[in-house]
Amino acid sequence: MPKLIYLVVGARPNFMKIAPLIKEFKKEKIKFKLIHTGQHYDYNMSKVFFDDLGIPEPDIHLNIGSASHAVQTAKILIEFEKVLVREKVSLVVVVGDVNSTLACALVAKKLHIKVAHIEAGLRSFNMEMPEEINRLLTDQISDFLFTTEKSAVINLKREGISSDKIFFVGNIMIDVLIMNLEKAKELNLLDKYNLKKNDYALITLHRPSNVDTKENLEKMLNILNFLQEKIKVFFPIHPRTKKNLEKFDLEKNIKDLNIVLSHPIGYLEFLNLMTNSKLILTDSGGIQEEASYLKIPVLTARMGTERPVTVEEGTNTIIGRDIDKAKRHIEEIFTSKYKNGKNIEYWDGRASKRIVKVLKEKLNL
Ligand code: UD1
Repeated sequence: MPKLIYLVVGARPNFMKIAPLIKEFKKEKIKFKLIHTGQHYDYNMSKVFFDDLGIPEPDIHLNIGSASHAVQTAKILIEFEKVLVREKVSLVVVVGDVNSTLACALVAKKLHIKVAHIEAGLRSFNMEMPEEINRLLTDQISDFLFTTEKSAVINLKREGISSDKIFFVGNIMIDVLIMNLEKAKELNLLDKYNLKKNDYALITLHRPSNVDTKENLEKMLNILNFLQEKIKVFFPIHPRTKKNLEKFDLEKNIKDLNIVLSHPIGYLEFLNLMTNSKLILTDSGGIQEEASYLKIPVLTARMGTERPVTVEEGTNTIIGRDIDKAKRHIEEIFTSKYKNGKNIEYWDGRASKRIVKVLKEKLNL
């Protein structure tokens, strides 16, 4: 009987990472089921990615939804265990660092099922980020740790993970980007959103550290305000940010600026808007990588990054919420003094092939 693998997704940044793997599994005739925990559920946060990337309907949907960390994680533990005991599963694959990643890895491991973690070993060294806790714990219990950059390998070894579990395979996010770049470029979004090529900044903002307190959200809006005086800004607003703008009564601060506001947008639209932008201001993890691959300047509103290769070799600069740093680097971008970035090792569209090769060998698939 062919071995069965469960692929788990839950939240927005998971969906694009699973798409290339599904393609490769299908090509290699590997039997799998797709499990969606339902951590994200709005059309714009979930289904649009399935449609854009041709991801099949999940075989199993846990319908968890939003809640506090403890409740959300606990619900996933309970519901995923019910599913996982029903049939013989040889491997559970989890991706990234969201609550679904840790919860499903934990359930599988306690049932003595092997776990593969894609995007293992990234560390921000900031335990106030929920993602850092998710990454650390998931890596400790995973059997196959697939890494995107060398710093991750170093981190894992320092944490005592044995070398024979660690596989430096490259970045699966870049696989999906390369697969979809031409299709994304064909969309005509500049007219739709009234933007001009290379003449707008793209903003994303949703980290709890930036948007969950009024003081920090105001600091971010000050940077936005500076930016919009120089260039038009396109800002698709994450549901967490939208709620907090309303809660702190800050919506009025951005309404009349040189800003195009939108609901969260799908994968292809976002990729199109990245390729045409002059610069990106973000607090996302993945966008630091995508912008680096595309060689678009990206300023990251975080205190550090778990993806240091994007700063050392890519186009990423960490600015925190520091408006002076932001101004300095925005100035560099406008005077063409900003760094250009280099090609990053194994960010070449073949990470999913490398992952499947390892799994076939190690699991006798
Ligand atoms: C989660 C991930 C984060 C990732 C982000 C991308 C964790 C700990 N965090 O954060 O790493 O960068 O997703 O989006 O897993 N909401 C909706 N519709 C949805 C989903 C959420 O309106 O489809 C609202 C809910 O009110 C919810 C809030 O957004 O309370 C936050 O959602 P949640 O999944 O808890 O965390 P994110 O901030 O999205």
